[in-house]
Amino acid sequence: HAFEVTVSAPVNIAVVKYWGKRDTSLLLPTNSSLSLTLSQDDLRSTTTVRADPSFERDRLWLNGKEEDVTKNKRMVNVVRELRALRQRMEQDDASLEKLSAQKLHVCSQNNFPTAAGLASSASGFAALTFGIAHAIGVADKVSRSDLSRLARLGSGSACRSLFGGFVAWEMGSRPDGVDSVAVQVADESHWPDMEALVLVASDARKDTPSTAGMQLTVETSELLQERIRQVPQRMQDMKQAIANKDYDAFAELTMMDSNQFHAVCLDTFPPITYLNDVSRAVIHLITAYNALFTGDGRSGRGKKGYRAAYTFDAGPNAVLYILKEHVPEVLALVNRFFPPPEGEGERKEYFGRAANFMGSENVKAVDDMVSRIGMKPLERGSLRRIISTSVGDGPRILARG
Ligand code: DP6
Repeated sequence: HAFEVTVSAPVNIAVVKYWGKRDTSLLLPTNSSLSLTLSQDDLRSTTTVRADPSFERDRLWLNGKEEDVTKNKRMVNVVRELRALRQRMEQDDASLEKLSAQKLHVCSQNNFPTAAGLASSASGFAALTFGIAHAIGVADKVSRSDLSRLARLGSGSACRSLFGGFVAWEMGSRPDGVDSVAVQVADESHWPDMEALVLVASDARKDTPSTAGMQLTVETSELLQERIRQVPQRMQDMKQAIANKDYDAFAELTMMDSNQFHAVCLDTFPPITYLNDVSRAVIHLITAYNALFTGDGRSGRGKKGYRAAYTFDAGPNAVLYILKEHVPEVLALVNRFFPPPEGEGERKEYFGRAANFMGSENVKAVDDMVSRIGMKPLERGSLRRIISTSVGDGPRILARG
């Protein structure tokens, strides 16, 4: 009989970045990583999987356009492994329906622009893995970490989108990758004050896809070797910061890790640059803003008083992790230094849900900060939009039948 399931999966943004593979076909990383899962109310991939005995071959539609499944090697690998899992179950229990032989039609879409450094492949492959696992009856038979291992074959960072909250991808050491899986560090209710602002500097397709970029880094950057040496300690410190809800430690580690990732990109030869002038202005603003509360930059690490933390993936968009109480103030500052569009409709679209936070900041305090930060405002329209979101849950089943 025919069966259909629709699922959604979240985006995740790492605070300890994955960059580099030790195995390019199994997608095994050169270091562990850690991310926050963002709310699916704002950013998500949705996938419908239909299994029907009349289907003659697997077919795939991405954002409404049919793709040749056979040409997408990673997709083929994920589907093959899911079917192999089902096949083993069918061999152990002859009464099970032969769903491993069933052809599938898969339809997937994002509610945000693809390839803009917003990890569309992560939510996309997480939704695909979760959806097919449900369609062929394996989802309830294996652990979430087991599913994360299959999503990893689609895109490394996708394994972290199988969980909500705070998620580690433990790199593992086995050559076959069975111990390279995602695990939840804390769930989405652990740190309810944690908010995220995505400052979209460009929604154009990025220059160097992460797969090619990180391979070039592995081949040419010696600095990457130093990073690989440092990450285990940083993972430990980050887990501790999250467990203790220690925002100062969290913010400092997040910014340092983003900076190191982009330094490693610049150390790649030829160099890879994902940050643009707008990204650098965001870094400058957040650094100057934090310095109003932590003291000046010469005093080194371990400072107290951080108000905002930036991080950048393989693109120019900034993601700011901020505690709820400081979001109105940060938005007011962004508003001053990155003037929004003028038309009322455009402004509405530009701010989206971020508008809910605005107006409750202390205007006098903000004016004072603006003059002390003393940065020249950027041109109107240098930011395309602001997405206000928070930490959210893992994949959801939206419909089945
Ligand atoms: C900068 O997971 O997109 O976002 O495994 O080759 O598909 P592939 O790469 P991908 O790389 C993500 C890199 C990053 C950092 C991160 O998400 O940890």
